[in-house]
This record gives sequence, C-alpha cells and structure tokens, in this order.
Amino acid sequence: MKKYLEKLPQEMRGLIKLVGDVAAQKNMRVYLVGGFVRDLLLGATNLDLDVVVEGDGISFAEDVAAELGSKLIRHHAFGTATIVSGHHLKIDVATARKEAYASPAQLPVVQPGSLKDDLFRRDFTINAMAVDINPNDFGRLIDFYGGISDLKNKKVRVLHDLSFFDDPTRILRAVRFEQRYGFHIEPRTLKRLKGAAKRGMLEAVEPQRMRDELILMLKEKEPIKALERLHRIGGLAFIKKGLKFTNKTRALLNAVKKEIAWFGKNFPHRRRLDKWLMYFMALIDALSVKDTENICARFAFCKGETKRMACFKRLRPAFFRALSTAGLKPSRIFSLLEPLPYEVILLAKAKFKFPALQLHISGFFRIYNGTRIQVTGCDLQKMGCLPGPHYQEILKKILRAKLDGRAVSRQEELSLACEIIHRQRL
Ligand code: CTP
Repeated sequence: MKKYLEKLPQEMRGLIKLVGDVAAQKNMRVYLVGGFVRDLLLGATNLDLDVVVEGDGISFAEDVAAELGSKLIRHHAFGTATIVSGHHLKIDVATARKEAYASPAQLPVVQPGSLKDDLFRRDFTINAMAVDINPNDFGRLIDFYGGISDLKNKKVRVLHDLSFFDDPTRILRAVRFEQRYGFHIEPRTLKRLKGAAKRGMLEAVEPQRMRDELILMLKEKEPIKALERLHRIGGLAFIKKGLKFTNKTRALLNAVKKEIAWFGKNFPHRRRLDKWLMYFMALIDALSVKDTENICARFAFCKGETKRMACFKRLRPAFFRALSTAGLKPSRIFSLLEPLPYEVILLAKAKFKFPALQLHISGFFRIYNGTRIQVTGCDLQKMGCLPGPHYQEILKKILRAKLDGRAVSRQEELSLACEIIHRQRL
C-alpha cells in the first residue's frame, strides 16, 4: 500500500504520518479504514480520513489535535471525535468497536473491540479494509473479508447475511456505491437486499436516517440511475407507500438533469443550486400537496427545503398559463419569477415545454433576474417627496419601467421618479 500512500497530496501524507507517530508515542495501534482505504485503492479522491484506534479514540484524537493545533469535535456517545485540519481535510477518529443489534433497523449497542471486530461490523467488504499506519508496519494492508478481491471484481458484497436487517440504510448505500463506481451488487447480497426491502425494513428505520442516506444518493453524480435501481429492487416505499417510478418520472428527472447542466453552463456565478432537492422534487412530483407536506414533516427537512418543495407544489395552473403567454413584457416575467427560488423555476422549465414559457424563463435568467434600479429613497426625499409606504410603489414602478426599457440610465430613472411624484402630487 506504500505506493498508494505516496501518491497522496503532501499535506495528507504528512497528516497520516503524524497520526501514526502519535500512536507510537502512546503505544497504541492505529489504522486507516473505511471509504478512505477503498478510494485509495481505486485512485479516487477522498479528503475524509477515517481512523480507528485500538484504545480510547477520543483521548487519542485530543493528542493528535494538540499536535496539529487543530479544532476537535468530540462525540462522547459514540466514542469518536473529528479533527478539522486546514481548509478541507477532516480526520474522523473512532475507538475500534464491536456492535450488537438488539433489534433490526435500530441503532446497535456498541462496546470496545479489536480491529477485526471493527471491520466485521461494517457494511461491505470493499469498505471493511484497513491500512496500518504505525511506524513499524506503515502501509500494510489488512483485508480479513476479501475486500481487495471484490474491489478487483467490481462487487458490492455484505459481510454476513443479516447485514441489511441490522442496518437497512445499507440498501441505499449498496445502490449508491454500485452506481458510483460502476460495480454490481453480488447475487447473494442482492437476494438478501431484496428480501430486506420486501419485508419493509427500510420503513422500519428512523426516517431522518433514511433522509440522510437518500440525500447522499441524490448528491451523487448519476442520481437518476441510482433511483431507478432502487425502484427496481423495491426500495422506494420508505418515501411514500406505492410511490411509482414511471416513464414520466424518468423523463422529468432527465429534464431536470438537463436544466441543471444548462444553468451551470450559462450562469456559473449565480447561487449554487440544491440539485439533490430538484431531483427529489421530480421524484415525488406525482404526489399530492398533502402527501408532500407529510413527507417533509416525517423526514424533518429543514425550513428552506420544505418551503421550496411547497412552493413548487402550490404553483397554480393560472401561473403556468400566464408564463406561457406569448409576448409577455419583461416586467411581467420579472414579477412572476423573481419571488421564486431558482430550483422551483428550473423545475418548471423542466416540466413544462411550452415555447413561450421556455423563452421567458431563459430571458429571466439571462437578463432580468437581479435587475436593480439606481434611484433610492434618498433621491425621492431630495425631490421633496415625504417618506412613506408609497416609496415602495414608486421604486417598483421605476423598476418595471427599467425592465421594459423605458428608463435605462440613472438620469432617466430620476426623470421618471419626478414625473410620478408630480403626477400623484406626493
Ligand atoms: N459504515 C457502515 N455502515 C453504514 C455506514 C457506514 O458499515 N451504514 C462504515 C463503512 O465501513 C464506511 C465507513 O463506515 O466505509 C464510513 O462511512 P461513510 O463516511 O458514511 O461512507 P464512506 O464509505 O466514506 O463513503 P463516502 O465516499 O460516500 O463518504
């Protein structure tokens, strides 16, 4: 493994060496584990170092953080700690542990264990390898469960038959890793996975844990393929019983993907989209407002996410009719679209293919979005207009005129302001 470690960026190599040295000083054994080892072998970038120590993980992390002068976040309930180093590097330190699942789909009872125990409690063989980073054995790969062979053969395989019953979130994880790396879920694992899905195990998990896994899936590069796979293995019911993945769903998801690409290419400096949310909205598009509200409450989506989902669901046919009317004035396009979140506007563009609607939304993003006028309340005051709620109205009128090309320069805006004030005798 030494050759793989040598290829890492220098900052990361230094960090790994330092962690090993601290372990040696404390006479402890420390290993790199999990997704970091998998990605190291695959040559994929992973900035999250996952470290396991045979011994007290938190006190070990305290020593490493002190050595680095870095911030430490302790999670006493789990015997883990996170060290945040530099701008983007993160080290998760855990005590090697053994897990026992008292009942399916619930969080396990944990107790300290050996490295072998710790690797055995993990989801898939490809995630259950370790690399020794103690100075004497630096770079030695530890593979008790056949991870290397599965990695070579592109297989996602559980370590034991009850894995999906113990932790059904692994159903989503299996699909996620399969799609991300172009692997396939090995036949026996697939049988166990389908069995667990059929027995409703996904619905037995605490919804917020499922939400987090689902969001990770939707944040992948190819979320549509993953969703389709999840649908085929019967794994969508945890969102809503009977949720269908139809040709229409697929078409809308693909249209969303196109709109995301269009937006990214043309407006790289605008606010970043919550792409995962757009895919999720497309996935549940056929559901009613009530069902959507129930899902938001059950998954405890944050306020901003819930608001955007509700906003799209509540857009009335009259809104789409208005937006699809040919020859709308820019000020009208602006008043229809400016109050809406980007995700909602792009979803509308993905869903409704009327040429006028397409044109108006493109125009909104290209020209009108974020248009500001130069006249201010101070200018109005200087013109002798007493402050009051009518200021808003005057400024809105000037903005509309600017959008429609009737007041382009500051001078023209000022003239228009003067005209309005006199016309209305304000
Ligand atoms: N793990 C597990 N079962 C889970 C979640 C995690 O066994 N339900 C273990 C796996 O060994 C995994 C490690 O914990 O590799 C770290 O989990 P996480 O950070 O969620 O995933 P990564 O494997 O690092 O994957 P990603 O690249 O998506 O972050």
